[in-house]
Amino acid sequence: MTSPERSIVLIGMMGAGKSSVGRCLQRKTGLQIFDLDDVVSAKAGLPIPDIFAKHGEPHFRELESEALDQIATDEPAIIVTGGGVILREKNVARLKELGLVVWLTADESVLFARAGRRGNRPLLQTNDPKATIAELSRVRTPLYAKAADFRVETSQLTHDEVCDKILVEIDARTQGER
Ligand code: S3P
Repeated sequence: MTSPERSIVLIGMMGAGKSSVGRCLQRKTGLQIFDLDDVVSAKAGLPIPDIFAKHGEPHFRELESEALDQIATDEPAIIVTGGGVILREKNVARLKELGLVVWLTADESVLFARAGRRGNRPLLQTNDPKATIAELSRVRTPLYAKAADFRVETSQLTHDEVCDKILVEIDARTQGER
């Protein structure tokens, strides 16, 4: 398998497995990894839930866009995003500029099982996190679809399998371009 020639950008809902799959891609390709939530958190000097609690979601979105603009990489890299990054059109343009955009999807029950119970997702601190996931997913699905170069459905797969699927797809595309 050849090493990816472009960066791999992971998008998708909370609980889709972006961070774990990103780490797996990093291990398998040896490329550098940027996790946008980590960049935002480091910039703010606060964990993500505290940024939301102290400064609110609009401030978080500002930091998120700034962090995205500041990712500077001449070499291909793995770029892991937060689930809401696609809410701003200019972020989507930047993601496409950065590399190949891969959308990880999963059934809502799977998203809930992976993300809903840990208490570290400020947007899911609602009376009915399952319903919140469904609503966020309804609003965001067309935005993810528009941003993505391709999609990988992850509900029945391990993170490792998702990782391999992405690399195989990229390899096939690279061969096709030659
Ligand atoms: C968010 C997803 C989170 C984080 C923040 C907001 C969202 O990242 O950026 O809590 O709007 O969906 P993950 O998708 O990694 O959970």
